[in-house]
Amino acid sequence: MTIPHKKLLLLPGDGIGPEVMAQARRVIDFLSQSGVATFEITTDLVGGASIEAFGAPITDAVIAKARAADAVLFGAVGGPQWDREPFDNRPEIAILELRKQLGLFANLRPAPVFEALIEASPLKADLVRGLDLMIVREATGGIYFGEPRGIETLPDGSKRGINTEIYTTAEIIRVGRVAFDLARQRDKRLTSVEKANVMESGLLWRETITALAAEYPDVALNHMYADNCAMQLARNPRQFDVIVTSNLFGDLLSDLASMLTGSLGMLGSATLGATLPNGKRHALYEPIHGSAPDIAGKDKANPLAQILSLAMLLRTSLHLPDAATQVETAVAAALNAGYRTADIAEVGAKSVSTTAMGDAVIAALVVGATK
Ligand code: IPM
Ligand code: MG
Repeated sequence: MTIPHKKLLLLPGDGIGPEVMAQARRVIDFLSQSGVATFEITTDLVGGASIEAFGAPITDAVIAKARAADAVLFGAVGGPQWDREPFDNRPEIAILELRKQLGLFANLRPAPVFEALIEASPLKADLVRGLDLMIVREATGGIYFGEPRGIETLPDGSKRGINTEIYTTAEIIRVGRVAFDLARQRDKRLTSVEKANVMESGLLWRETITALAAEYPDVALNHMYADNCAMQLARNPRQFDVIVTSNLFGDLLSDLASMLTGSLGMLGSATLGATLPNGKRHALYEPIHGSAPDIAGKDKANPLAQILSLAMLLRTSLHLPDAATQVETAVAAALNAGYRTADIAEVGAKSVSTTAMGDAVIAALVVGATK
């Protein structure tokens, strides 16, 4: 059997990014030692770290490396020391540029509830038990990128800030297809979310998704206004299987959904491009959480979202489903064995460090491999 050879670009970023990435790296090294694949790994700077080194949150060289890689594993960016950077040079630009330049239009944000952590949810256990929700957020269009944009000075000296929500049918169809295809592999239910009652772009979204549904007769489609969807997520989240929505609504709703699980530090995500004529598909994987500057460098952060993002990467980009399952099983085993970082520990309970959680996952991988 030939062992696959895969190129990975690791972009740890700022704050807790490097600490949680270090634990994911240990998992990659374990997989490589156990002969799952050989990995050619490059690590580079993004966000504030790149601003310090090169004066910009991401360089063309890093974009080129991302393009050449089989997949990108991203940590987190940002921190108070860069709050005064000009608007177009903030650390967050790194992630927006990667999405835009690599055409990563479909942001998949799963929100599964881990039974071992059910008490960590701010909702009652009965409401979230078994929840397994997937938000598909459009990521290269909408108000994040629409023109015109900017801050203008009016003749009277006052100012006006402008952003524009734009969606073309082509953009709606391609993200819609990703969502319908996913729903097909899951519980076959899709909720499309917009504000068709007040926004023309939302009306076009609804009409386009409705037309696309003809190709997916096996998937039950419903439509929901974004405000109602926020309310329904808090009221009865299990009514949802897959949600598809715009860039901005997806940003908001995925933060809400992630908190239903009680464990922001547990959730990974994937952002995928189109499959190119050569069969390649650009993809970036990152935890949902941010750079958490308040706990950076303290060996306190939860590395599991980064490790679970790696599992998504193994499954989706590297086509190594067994390795992905192996990693996910090891994470579950670490939780079942009682390991908790501070973010998921019950009040007053003992918590372990980032490194110790990494140790627990590696130990579970070792046990799994010898079974
Ligand atoms: C996210 C983040 C980003 C976004 C920021 C960091 C640009 O909030 O990935 O959800 O708004 O898309
Ligand atoms: Mg966000």
